[in-house]
Amino acid sequence: MPNLCLVLALILFSASSISCCTDHERNCLLQFLAGLSQDGHGGLAASWRHGTDCCSWEGITCSSSSSSSTASKAVTITDVLLASKKLEGSISPALGRLPGLQRLNLSHNSLSGGLPAEIMSSDSIVILDISFNLLNGDLLDSPSSSSSSASGRRIQVINVSSNSFSGRFLSSSWKEMENLVVLNASNNSFTGPMPTFFCIRSSSFSMLDLSYNHFNGNVPPEIGNCSSLRMLKADHNNLSGTLPDELFNVTSLEHLSFPNNGLQGVLDGAGIIKLRNLVVLDLGFNMFSGNIPDSIGKLKRLEEIHLHHNSLAGELTPAIGSCTNLKALNLGSNNFSGELGKVNFSKLSSLKSLHVSYNSFNGTIPESVYTCSNLNALQLSFNKFHGQLSFRIANLKSLTYLSLAENSFTNISNTLQILKSSRDLTTLLIGGNFRDEEISDDKTIDGFENLKVLAMENCPLFGNIPIWISKLKNLEMLFLFNNHLSGSIPVCISTLNSLFYLDLSNNSLSGEIPAELTEMPMLRSERVTSHLDIKIFELPVYTGPSPKYFTVSDFPAVMILENNNLTGVIPTELGQLKALLSLILGYNNLHGEIPETILDLTNLEILDLSNNHLTGTIPADLNNLNFLSELNVSNNDLQGPVPTGGHLDTFPRSSFDGNPRLCGHILDQDCDDPVVVDAPQGSSRQGGYKVIFVIAFGALFGVGVLLDQLCLSRLVT
Ligand SMILES: *[C@@H]1O[C@H](CO)[C@@H](O)[C@H](O)[C@H]1NC(C)=O
Ligand SMILES: *[C@@H]1O[C@H](CO)[C@@H](O)[C@H](O)[C@H]1NC(C)=O
Ligand SMILES: *[C@@H]1O[C@H](CO)[C@@H](O)[C@H](O)[C@H]1NC(C)=O
Ligand SMILES: *[C@@H]1O[C@H](CO)[C@@H](O)[C@H](O)[C@H]1NC(C)=O
Ligand SMILES: *[C@@H]1O[C@H](CO)[C@@H](O)[C@H](O)[C@H]1NC(C)=O
Ligand SMILES: *[C@@H]1O[C@H](CO)[C@@H](O)[C@H](O)[C@H]1NC(C)=O
Ligand SMILES: *[C@@H]1O[C@H](CO)[C@@H](O)[C@H](O)[C@H]1NC(C)=O
Ligand SMILES: *[C@@H]1O[C@H](CO)[C@@H](O)[C@H](O)[C@H]1NC(C)=O
Ligand SMILES: *[C@@H]1O[C@H](CO)[C@@H](O)[C@H](O)[C@H]1NC(C)=O
Ligand SMILES: *[C@@H]1O[C@H](CO)[C@@H](O)[C@H](O)[C@H]1NC(C)=O
Ligand SMILES: *[C@@H]1O[C@H](CO)[C@@H](O)[C@H](O)[C@H]1NC(C)=O
Ligand SMILES: *[C@@H]1O[C@H](CO)[C@@H](O)[C@H](O)[C@H]1NC(C)=O
Repeated sequence: MPNLCLVLALILFSASSISCCTDHERNCLLQFLAGLSQDGHGGLAASWRHGTDCCSWEGITCSSSSSSSTASKAVTITDVLLASKKLEGSISPALGRLPGLQRLNLSHNSLSGGLPAEIMSSDSIVILDISFNLLNGDLLDSPSSSSSSASGRRIQVINVSSNSFSGRFLSSSWKEMENLVVLNASNNSFTGPMPTFFCIRSSSFSMLDLSYNHFNGNVPPEIGNCSSLRMLKADHNNLSGTLPDELFNVTSLEHLSFPNNGLQGVLDGAGIIKLRNLVVLDLGFNMFSGNIPDSIGKLKRLEEIHLHHNSLAGELTPAIGSCTNLKALNLGSNNFSGELGKVNFSKLSSLKSLHVSYNSFNGTIPESVYTCSNLNALQLSFNKFHGQLSFRIANLKSLTYLSLAENSFTNISNTLQILKSSRDLTTLLIGGNFRDEEISDDKTIDGFENLKVLAMENCPLFGNIPIWISKLKNLEMLFLFNNHLSGSIPVCISTLNSLFYLDLSNNSLSGEIPAELTEMPMLRSERVTSHLDIKIFELPVYTGPSPKYFTVSDFPAVMILENNNLTGVIPTELGQLKALLSLILGYNNLHGEIPETILDLTNLEILDLSNNHLTGTIPADLNNLNFLSELNVSNNDLQGPVPTGGHLDTFPRSSFDGNPRLCGHILDQDCDDPVVVDAPQGSSRQGGYKVIFVIAFGALFGVGVLLDQLCLSRLVT
């Protein structure tokens, strides 16, 4: 065998001094292989065969060992790179006994069990990446076998992220890691206090990611020992207390990220000014109070400020206008007040995202905002802004997302005229403004060519549903609920090829439900294909008397025409809208029977036909609608038996109440008995309609917006 090996080596590497790995190394690898229950469907075993040179095995790299000064053919395994090989089973401690192993990469497999202490305490490993596996247990080191190694461990990079490790970090386990530079422990179940002792051990320690764990207690003052730390992330933990003064000694910090914890206190201006290298400051979803200190303006490298969902208050410091590299400013959901115009935005030419929704800002939109020509998301909703939109907003050529909802803006005609030529605009949320204005069917409104989401709910607006809406060829979601819109539903809405979410509820629409509505291509498809990014931050969802929930991520196909004055019968063609998850037609004047074709809506989860004048029977095969979880046919004039069986039996009595001629066990009305006709009950319209706003707050990171956090808040109108 050694002969064959030598020959191979000679062929491959001409006359270089490469030779085979040692028996010891081969045995270590074979022990690792033996510990696997799945090795990429046999792929590894095919390559890792007894009697062959393990330097040529898949994923293995050897090099001449530099340590051996006998300048001969000493070769040792330096790399075991087996990322994404579909490996299952456990990691053998034998890998830790490979004497020259420098890089071990087992990421993106399904390895389980613990990480052997032999690997953590290897004297040779420099880079260890076991991220994205199913490993669990504590991360434990064992004391170095050789009490030698004057230079301590060589390990520089440890990535154990996205596993199921638990337990505390014990300083004793890490005391020999004097060369550590990077530790990513995110997305595990680690507990106990936030560890910072790496910094004391290693003067070059520069990146610590502890996000998505269960660390608790205060941010330890020992963090001040981390004199080389550039990135510190600990979001989604259970940290509490205030930021320690010592943190601000870490002047090397570029990225400081503690969102979604229980931190509090005021932002210390004298401290923050010391972090002169800061690029990203993310303290969102905490309980910070007070104001943003003026010294923030001295941080010239700042690109992102995320302070959303805290209790910050007062007027904004004009100093923000001096952070000239700012790309994202997210101050949503605080208690800021006064004029946004305290900040002069004209030097923030890199600004891409300005998010100040859910505060108490007043005044008008500052003109200087319109000089931020790179702005692509402007979120001003739920404040006290007033006035008319300035034509200068047309300067914002990259604007894709504009939310002005729930302020006191006026002149809807003007607003639409100005915005119609914003070519990149995909999401326009302007509901809750334009109180009692009339929406005119302005023939000159065209454009909005890329609009995908249009929300003009809750103003209330008078007038008819404007025909120009049918020109918005890319429209996917249309929210017009809670207005005083009258007239009939325009037939031409059915030409909107991409529309899958239509909410016209709580208006004064009359006439019949146009059969053409059932021709909408997207609703007729098996599956909604949306070109919307998951980047939707705020979507209004009107729900009627019973709350309906809606997950932002999977864009349900919905038709809500509830609480209008619609007459006629339910078009039988409705059965073609296969994609529908919710069909809500309650509180109208519909009559006739429930069409049997409703049984074709096999994806339906919510069906509400209540409070109409429907007659006939309830289709008996309703339980074929496997996903139906909410049904309301109450307060009609239905008769015959309430269908039973399967999940139909789980619907409450209130689903069927108010139909004196319905019978069945659930109504305590035996179907064989002659029906006693009660006085009609409960058909009066209920007040207290609720609007649920589903809000996803996104944060802009350079090119994209990441969905950061979902938050539900309810408003009772
Ligand atoms: C490990 O391998 C994966 C997949 O090739 C790669 O993405 C990752 O960067 C590697 N880890 C290190 C520390 O180089
Ligand atoms: C693990 O972390 C290291 C250091 O940050 C990084 O180089 C590597 O790409 C990460 N591994 C994966 C799979 O992302
Ligand atoms: C740590 O690893 C996770 C994946 O497990 C990754 O999302 C995150 O970006 C990494 N952190 C850093 C700072 O690279
Ligand atoms: C966390 O880990 C799980 C399981 O490995 C993975 O599916 C998920 O993508 C990870 N999350 C992040 C933010 O990396
Ligand atoms: C680490 O920080 C603590 C608290 O700030 C301090 O008392 C200690 O002297 C520091 N240790 C080193 C080695 O710098
Ligand atoms: C977070 O910490 C607080 C005490 O600071 C504790 O009461 C709470 O149970 C912890 N929550 C979790 C999820 O660990
Ligand atoms: C670190 O911060 C503390 C508290 O602010 C201060 O007393 C100490 O002098 C600082 N140490 C250094 C080295 O800057
Ligand atoms: C916001 O500030 C106002 C005074 O400006 C105060 O009345 C209100 O309680 C504050 N709200 C919150 C949630 O802190
Ligand atoms: C705006 O808010 C500030 C601070 O709350 C207040 O002093 C000012 O009068 C308000 N201005 C207007 C026009 O309402
Ligand atoms: C904002 O600053 C620019 C110069 O950077 C100046 O021309 C403009 O007048 C300022 N605007 C306000 C409202 O102060
Ligand atoms: C609304 O805006 C239009 C211009 O688009 C203007 O002609 C009209 O006077 C404005 N109405 C009010 C009440 O300001
Ligand atoms: C509903 O329509 C009928 C006639 O079709 C009309 O008499 C009634 O006033 C309308 N109700 C509302 C609330 O618009």
